[in-house]
Amino acid sequence: KKSVVIAGGGSTYTAGIVMMLINNQDKFPLKSLKFYDNDFERQKVVADACEIIIRERAPEIEFVATTDPEVAFKDVDFVMAHIRQGGLKMREMDEKIPMKYDVVGQETCGPGGIAYGMRSITGVVELIDYMEEYSPNAWMLNYSNPASIVAEATRVMRPNAKIINICDMPVAIKQGMADIVGLKSGNDIVDRYYGLNHYGWWTEILDKDGNDLMPKLKEHVKEYGYGPDTSGNDNPLLMEQSWMDTFTKAKDIYAVDPDTLPNTYLKYYLYPDYVVKHTDPNHTRANEVMENREKNVFTECRNITSKGTAEDTTLEAGEHAEFIVQLAGALSYNTHERMLLIVENNGAIANIENDAMVEVPCIVSKRGYEPLAMGKIPTFQKGMIEQQVSVEKLVVQAYMEKSYQKLWKALTLSATVPSAGVAKLILDDLQEANKEYWPEL
Ligand code: G6P
Repeated sequence: KKSVVIAGGGSTYTAGIVMMLINNQDKFPLKSLKFYDNDFERQKVVADACEIIIRERAPEIEFVATTDPEVAFKDVDFVMAHIRQGGLKMREMDEKIPMKYDVVGQETCGPGGIAYGMRSITGVVELIDYMEEYSPNAWMLNYSNPASIVAEATRVMRPNAKIINICDMPVAIKQGMADIVGLKSGNDIVDRYYGLNHYGWWTEILDKDGNDLMPKLKEHVKEYGYGPDTSGNDNPLLMEQSWMDTFTKAKDIYAVDPDTLPNTYLKYYLYPDYVVKHTDPNHTRANEVMENREKNVFTECRNITSKGTAEDTTLEAGEHAEFIVQLAGALSYNTHERMLLIVENNGAIANIENDAMVEVPCIVSKRGYEPLAMGKIPTFQKGMIEQQVSVEKLVVQAYMEKSYQKLWKALTLSATVPSAGVAKLILDDLQEANKEYWPEL
């Protein structure tokens, strides 16, 4: 049996992970589950409810919520990290400041992602240090965004750390693909994919028997993106208008390169003008999340606590948590599953620099992960990837060297930003807003 600490206990996603862990007690049995957060009050709301859920559904799991790193990180096998440095309030800044200059405002892409990266590095590195001090044999499975920048920072700053950076977006898109071709789950798909986090392309999609699903998928994506055709689709993500827009916009990304199928996040780099035009600068995704998911989850948690039972709770196992549980299972029980992870390139993409952090399929076992070789990629993707890798490397260099100049270069190089002048205006505003969080440049 394993022991897990969830770092970012007060996240709106934590309860979904807990439910997913409970549902997987046969495949990934737990001895203990701990929550860790630096915000006691916020974590308490989620923890009090989860304690009741665990007592009712899996009483054999020992549970503790703490703000003490020693208690949290001692004797664990896995750290599941999904922290949000600065909370949703700072996400709102990441999204709204670039929008003032008609530039994409997004939590992981463009200037907003860069600003968030400069905050996240500190938090994630701190978690690694706690893990190495109190549970040196543990693995950190890191979901904290912006995953690409965080991955590059940990590669450079903590090169020997047992950390695996992951993202659920390709998983969510694969679920969308499964729905389109009539398979039950994204796990029924065997894929070849290359790129960076939130920045990649599929070149092959097979079912488990080796049948090529690409032609059917392309036919659909050409018309509807990953959105449903007129017969509908019950993917829970698509119940939300903003995700529906993202999934259908894949149609236009696909049109640019019909040889591959795209990650939906490419819309921010290939269609920034569209994104800006379709975003309300005064009401961004952070506001939607605060008004909906955060409110719902926290209200439901308080309900559970006041009733003293979670029997009829509306909280559900989070789809996005499936992947993290599956990954922990593969590392623990040597399943040799094939999963998309963010890893050091080292030739996996033949014509991209070795020390880029790329997202490619890997085989996961007790030994860790082994990336699969995706070969040489075409000029278009190579150009885009090299540009974005440079942005991410410059951010990490700027962080380490406390260099304003390098951060300005990073923003300037982002495909979402039109000029060095606009980059500077945005940077100055972001720096002011992030005074408490960034190293002093
Ligand atoms: C997907 C991405 C994550 C991102 C999340 C944002 O799951 O893979 O990287 O954090 O979307 O979702 P939200 O509902 O908070 O906008």
